[in-house]
Amino acid sequence: MTIFRKCIYLFLIFEPIFCANNKFPDDFLFGVASSAYQIEGGYDSRGKTTFDHHWELNSSMVSDSSNAKIACDSYHQYQKDIELLSYLGVDFYRFSISWARILPNGFPNKINPDGIRYYNALIDGLLAKNIQPMVTMFHFDLPKPLQDLGGWTNPIIADLFEEYARILFKNFGDRVKYWITINSNTWGYGDSDWPPMVDQSGFGDYLAIKNTILGHAKVYHLAKGEFREQEAQIGFVVDGRWYEPGSESTQDRDAAERARDFNVGLWLNPIYGSGDFPQIVKERVKLTSEKEGFAKSRLPQFTADEIKFVKNSFDFLGVNIYTSFLVKDVDEQNDKEFSWDKDVKAGVYQDVKWEGAKSDWLKVTPWGVRKILSWIKQKYDNPPIFITENGFSDAGEIEDLERVNFMKLYLKALLEAIDRDGVNVKGYAAWSLLDNFEWLVGYTEKFGLYHVDFADPGRRRTPKTSSKWYKKLIERRQLDE
Ligand code: NOJ
Repeated sequence: MTIFRKCIYLFLIFEPIFCANNKFPDDFLFGVASSAYQIEGGYDSRGKTTFDHHWELNSSMVSDSSNAKIACDSYHQYQKDIELLSYLGVDFYRFSISWARILPNGFPNKINPDGIRYYNALIDGLLAKNIQPMVTMFHFDLPKPLQDLGGWTNPIIADLFEEYARILFKNFGDRVKYWITINSNTWGYGDSDWPPMVDQSGFGDYLAIKNTILGHAKVYHLAKGEFREQEAQIGFVVDGRWYEPGSESTQDRDAAERARDFNVGLWLNPIYGSGDFPQIVKERVKLTSEKEGFAKSRLPQFTADEIKFVKNSFDFLGVNIYTSFLVKDVDEQNDKEFSWDKDVKAGVYQDVKWEGAKSDWLKVTPWGVRKILSWIKQKYDNPPIFITENGFSDAGEIEDLERVNFMKLYLKALLEAIDRDGVNVKGYAAWSLLDNFEWLVGYTEKFGLYHVDFADPGRRRTPKTSSKWYKKLIERRQLDE
């Protein structure tokens, strides 16, 4: 028997022993996640956001015409939330701070003391129960006055974001160890159905991405400079959907890699890779079609100094994991001369046979977990990763066995990513603690471990089966067979 064969036999014999106990590493952290706009309510005590503004213009923008003015009322009921978190036994709670609650106009000249008081009480309450806060600074809820200036497409936003972060570090940084700058995405700068509804695909989306990256890097350097004694861990969150080639053809494989680069890579390459946008993106995003003889870019360029500034501006990476897509190499047809879709040249679809959740985009594809994480590991040198969101939507059943099954499958895949692929995963947060305001679909798709009765003025919370299952998992730090 060759040495190679011997090794394979030994691996086959011992591999089940390494993986079969289904145990998470001893220092692995379990948590749950939420975001301010989706749970807080407390509408009258904060400034207006872009989402509020667009809802006021057209309430049917949200499918059930609902709004987030009260939501789960966590602004008043955060103590109850802390009790629920404590019952679950989580190590950390990922929540976001509402920029407009701290700075009602978005600008750093007027701080709202009630906002500071609220987050101080939340953070202190969590720490009293031994729950680490993991705080997102921006989760889709831009103060409206900043949007009037162009929002994330105006480069000044990076400075304003840094000023806002300085206020957060000053007020909360003595107690918060994990900070997430931005829950990535700049939806709404390249499409017309998501606030701010700037329908400028092929321009607006790229501008916004560059400015979020610069804003993120400024906050990272602020933490490592002026606030270094706080020893904060700084991360950025990407939407980690997996793009699988629709066939074995080279064209479809290339299209899938392009889809990854035009989604995840646009963020990761600057921060976690070379400091610049992915090469394929730089090649494809031209100001005019090359046949006309011009080749200027619609992609905003990073200067050499910016590349240095942005590169490696992280302590960890947050990945939100929900679903996967198949990809075909097709020219997207639309009547625009330029668009992100035309740049990426990849048709994205899902197999009708895949089991689905209530959200039409959310198909149960646990096999995508290892793929996206291994892709990140290989491409970006195995950064420390937190799964910052993972969850399943339904109509709000209390006996939510489908959610339990979903979490089991995804966590099993996550363990394999750790044990077999050596991905450096530090923790996992379930999305979400409570049923909440799911953006454009309002209260019609529920992701909570706890049911919330939105017809009850007291917003009564009821544990679902999944909350009990998750509590047990956290206690044992092990999945059942
Ligand atoms: C990711 C977003 O960060 C969160 O706000 C949203 O509720 C979930 N996806 C589910 O769609």
